[in-house]
Amino acid sequence: MTVAADPGSGPRDGVLLVGQSPALRRCWHPVAFCGQIAAAPVARTLLGTPVVLWRTPDGLLHSAVDRCPHRWAQLSRGTIAGDRLVCPYHGWQFGPDGAVVEIPQLEEGAPLPPSACLSMLPAVEACGMAWVSLEAQPPVPIPVIPEFTDTRFDRVEVGVIRYHASAPAIIDNNTDSTHVAFVHSGSFGADQDPQIGIGSVERTSFGISISFGEMPVARTPTAQRRGTRWSVTEMWLPFVQVGRMHYSDGSTHILVKGCCPVEDGVTDVHLAVLRNDVSDAFDRQAIIDFEMAVELEDKAVLETLPAAFPLDPRLQTHSKHDRPGIAYRQALADFLAGLS
Ligand code: FES
Ligand SMILES: [Fe+2]
Repeated sequence: MTVAADPGSGPRDGVLLVGQSPALRRCWHPVAFCGQIAAAPVARTLLGTPVVLWRTPDGLLHSAVDRCPHRWAQLSRGTIAGDRLVCPYHGWQFGPDGAVVEIPQLEEGAPLPPSACLSMLPAVEACGMAWVSLEAQPPVPIPVIPEFTDTRFDRVEVGVIRYHASAPAIIDNNTDSTHVAFVHSGSFGADQDPQIGIGSVERTSFGISISFGEMPVARTPTAQRRGTRWSVTEMWLPFVQVGRMHYSDGSTHILVKGCCPVEDGVTDVHLAVLRNDVSDAFDRQAIIDFEMAVELEDKAVLETLPAAFPLDPRLQTHSKHDRPGIAYRQALADFLAGLS
C-alpha cells in the first residue's frame, strides 16, 4: 500500500519556489507598465522584497528597496520633491543616486551620516514595462519585441492581473494548447478539438520557441471569413511570454505577458496586446474585455495549483502533447543552474 501525500506540498528536490531561488534575484523582472509610474512613488513586491519606483523630473526611472535607512519606513508612502524622494516618516530627502541630501532635523551645514543611503536597484524601461533586478548587473537580457516600436502595430495594455499562482505555472500554461477546449470552452475554445496538433519546440538563446503550423479558423480577424492561422510563441526566461499569431488575411496579433514573481504563489501578470489590424471600427475596450475574460478562465484553474512548480519532469505525468511544457521546465532548470 502506498501512503497518499500531496505531491505539491512543501519545498523538495526538483521543484521551484520562486522566493527561495537566489538565481531569480539576478534576473530582470517586469514590475509595472511604464505609464503607472508618474508623479508619486510606486510600491511593488518582487520575490518577497518591497521595492519602490519613482521618476525624477527628467523622466528617468529609479528604484530602491522600499525601506528608509532611518527607521525602515516605506518610501513608497512618501512624496517626490524636485529630484528628491522624501520619506513620509521624518522627512529625510534622498537624491536620484539614493544618497541622503537633507535631514530636516539637522542644522544647516551639519554633516550627513554617510550610511543614510537607499539600497538602489537596477531599473530600466523596455517593451512598455519597467524592469527591476534585485542584484546589480543582471546577466540576462530583457526580451526584445520589435513590434513595440513598429508604427504598424497598435498597443493595448489589457491590465495587471494578480494571480495567486506561481509565475512558472502561468508560463507553463501558455506552452500548453491542450487546455483550450476545456478551460476556454466559455470563450475562444468553444469549438476547439482537444486532439489539437503538437507544437514543435526549439531551444533558443533566450529560452524556447514553440511553433504551430497552419490551422483552419472559422473567422479571420479582418476579413471575417474562413482562413488559417499559424503561431509562434517565445518564452523568454524566466517568465515572459511573447505569442505571435498570424492570420491568412494579413492580421497579426501579439500577446505579451510579463510575469512578475511577487512571492511564492503570487504573480502579477502584465498583459498587453499588439495588433496590426486597427481600423475605424477598432474597439479597444472590446479587446480588453475579451483578453481579460480569457485570462480569468486560466486564473481560475491555475490558482488551484501548488506554489511549488515541478522543474523535474519526472514529478508529473505527461502526454505527447506536453512536449513544449517539458522543454520549458528543462530550459528553466538549466537557466537557473547557470545563474547559481
Ligand atoms: S524613517 Fe525615513 S526619515 Fe525616518
Ligand atoms: Fe489559457
